[in-house]
Amino acid sequence: MTSVTLKEVSKKFGSVQVCHNIDLDIKAGEFITLLGSSGCGKTTTLNMVAGLEDSTSGDILIGGRRVNDLSPVERDVAMVFQNYALYPHMTVAQNIGFTLKMRSVAPAIIREKVQKLAASLELDHLLERFPAQLSGGQQQRVAIGRALVREPRIFLFDEPFSNLDASLRVKMRTEVKQLHVQRNVTSIFVTHDQEEAMSISDRIAVMYRGRVEQFGTPEEIYARPATRYVASFIGSPQIELLDGLIEEANGATFVRAGQKALPVSIGPSSLKAGRAVEFGVRPEHVRLGVNGIEGRVRILQPIGPATHVTIDTAAGTFIASVPGFLRVKPGDAVNIEIQAANLHMFDKETGLRV
Ligand SMILES: Nc1ncnc2c1ncn2[C@@H]1O[C@H](COP(=O)(O)OP(=O)(O)O)[C@@H](O)[C@H]1O
Ligand SMILES: [Mg+2]
Repeated sequence: MTSVTLKEVSKKFGSVQVCHNIDLDIKAGEFITLLGSSGCGKTTTLNMVAGLEDSTSGDILIGGRRVNDLSPVERDVAMVFQNYALYPHMTVAQNIGFTLKMRSVAPAIIREKVQKLAASLELDHLLERFPAQLSGGQQQRVAIGRALVREPRIFLFDEPFSNLDASLRVKMRTEVKQLHVQRNVTSIFVTHDQEEAMSISDRIAVMYRGRVEQFGTPEEIYARPATRYVASFIGSPQIELLDGLIEEANGATFVRAGQKALPVSIGPSSLKAGRAVEFGVRPEHVRLGVNGIEGRVRILQPIGPATHVTIDTAAGTFIASVPGFLRVKPGDAVNIEIQAANLHMFDKETGLRV
């Protein structure tokens, strides 16, 4: 198992800087994800680790050794891309074994390794087929097998499931996680899908405009988002962030939003009265109750296990996620209750958690 470290890694294409001082300390055997919307620098970062792209400045270490000047082969990484481009004229077995053949590994050993890997990827009954005779998911598993067969020190995935339909994506997630549990190869996975990242990762680096906004476990980034961006990017339905103003009354601290001071004290707090914040509550922490903020239901969206309810109040719009199906209708009056512990607050100017 091998650690990977990025130290202040930056990348410019011409005069345009697309990665800014990226610091990541990835432990040996860890599965981490680079998560962010399109264009935030995920692929560029991954390519710099792979050696497919030079960094403009900073150091990249694999297993404690600086690899900036090593080729992709010398770095001993394996990559799986979104466009997995199998060799169309080769069978599944030949595709998986190809890199071993190129390294002049003995045919009997190739056969054994391919067989074993195919079994763990549930491809063993397809070994003699050609790529055109496989489903998208099967092809993607062959691509993963082709990368895994080398037993690389590091595994890099760049949006490998983006071309698959939704149910297959979820299945592939489970398979990749299972493989990681079995083999523990240090892995960096790139995706723009926050749910995929949450479900698969030991830790997630949330990227925004070429910077890492937060690097933490799924629980850390969900429960304690470090920035406004992380709070709104992670979670479905999205957290609604509202403008608020800190107020003090009777020794307690409150947030005023719109014409309303939230009926929750957030004190004792170091927040000074008059400070401008943005705040939000995750939908599952917005409870419908009898006390609390008065509101009116605007929209109901049942999804099965829960119903998402959009509620307008004098403090702003909240989205509640309530278990099961709900008997309320648009236009109904409801009260929402929130607890101080579930409030996420960010400085209005810096966007940093306060
Ligand atoms: N070879 C290149 N030349 C110039 N700009 C590039 C090149 N590759 C990527 N970029 C730019 O760098 C930014 C980050 O791209 P990329 O790393 O591919 O983002 P992501 O994978 O997160 O979608 C984008 O604005 C993209 O247009
Ligand atoms: Mg990309």
